[in-house]
Amino acid sequence: MTTHPSDDRPIGMFDSGFGGLTVARAFIDLLPDEDLVYVGDTGRYPYGPRSLGEVAGYAHEIARYLVDVHRVKLLVVACNTAAAAALGSLRDELDVPVMGVIDPGVRSLVRATETGRVGVIGTVGTVGSGAYQRAVAASGTPVELTVAACPGFVEFVEGGETGSDQVHVLAERLLAPIVEAKVDALLLGCTHYPYLARTITDVVGRDVVLVSSADETAFEALALFREEAEAPGGVALAPAAVGRVGTHRFVSSGDVERFRDLGARLLGPELAAAERAPWSR
Ligand code: DGL
Repeated sequence: MTTHPSDDRPIGMFDSGFGGLTVARAFIDLLPDEDLVYVGDTGRYPYGPRSLGEVAGYAHEIARYLVDVHRVKLLVVACNTAAAAALGSLRDELDVPVMGVIDPGVRSLVRATETGRVGVIGTVGTVGSGAYQRAVAASGTPVELTVAACPGFVEFVEGGETGSDQVHVLAERLLAPIVEAKVDALLLGCTHYPYLARTITDVVGRDVVLVSSADETAFEALALFREEAEAPGGVALAPAAVGRVGTHRFVSSGDVERFRDLGARLLGPELAAAERAPWSR
């Protein structure tokens, strides 16, 4: 009988706040044996309007904390803005594999379209960075891409307000270029946006397939563990021992009680407690 190596160290994941919980949900469901440590940097959110340099600084600080304190074996940047700002430099600096959400999202997007007219929405930082435009071009799929920044969406999610009239009015204004371009697939290029899926669908119409990078990113991690894909940086990665039950820890740099309460509403019962991040003010 062949025995495969196993590694029970946790997976580390972070976002500016609650958005990355969409990615955490997919990881918990698809990789139930794995431990997870999630950081929501709610004390410094939103990342979207900040300069890419500032966001990169935060991303490196959180990554070092996850690697040095929690000894994570894989880092998932569950935030498009942070991935646009720092994925490359994190891969250069860290000696664990680092995954982002941009390439997995683009792979789903180009698979989902039939007409070849696709859209991506994200924060001002992500859209302005050109990361999606480059990733779509690098996919080699000849699609017509329309991108739109949606300032304000993240603030509604962080406020726990996902279906109000106000968010609907804002969505109608911000999504007008997407509706006009008649896309048939729209990538939610910010991990907060799946929480606004109902409002977004009401505005763009039910014929438009909404693509979220959460599932695709979790499937990519599964492929890494099964050695079906090469880990970024070529660093070896092993899954947790078969049959164990993963534990889930949540860390917030803002109000931890609010993180626990709203987080549990958004993610589910796994978020029963939250801890304070060491850099919290
Ligand atoms: N959820 C993050 C993203 O995917 C960013 C939200 C923000 O802090 O602006 O871009």
